[in-house]
Amino acid sequence: MIEFTVNGERHELVEPSPSMPLLWVLRDHLKLTGTKFGCGMGLCGACTVHLDGVAVRSCQLPVAAVAGHSITTIEGLSPTEQ
Ligand code: FES
Repeated sequence: MIEFTVNGERHELVEPSPSMPLLWVLRDHLKLTGTKFGCGMGLCGACTVHLDGVAVRSCQLPVAAVAGHSITTIEGLSPTEQ
C-alpha cells in the first residue's frame, strides 16, 4: 500500500505498481485529469505537479517515491474553478 496526500486529501492506494509513474496514478486512479501527458520523457512540463512544494515531472516519478509526501495538482490550486 502507498499512502500520500493529494491536494490536502489523504489517499491509500493498493492497486498501482510501485513503479507506475505518478502521472497515471493521478489521472487513472484519482481522476485528476488536470495533470496532462505530453512527451512522457520529462521534457515538456505538461505533467508538472508540486511534491512538498517543489515542482516535479510526474511522468518521470514512480508513485512509490511519493509515499508519505504531499502532492499538489492544478485542481488543488483552483478548487473553485475560477
Ligand atoms: Fe512531458 Fe512529463 S509529459 S515532462
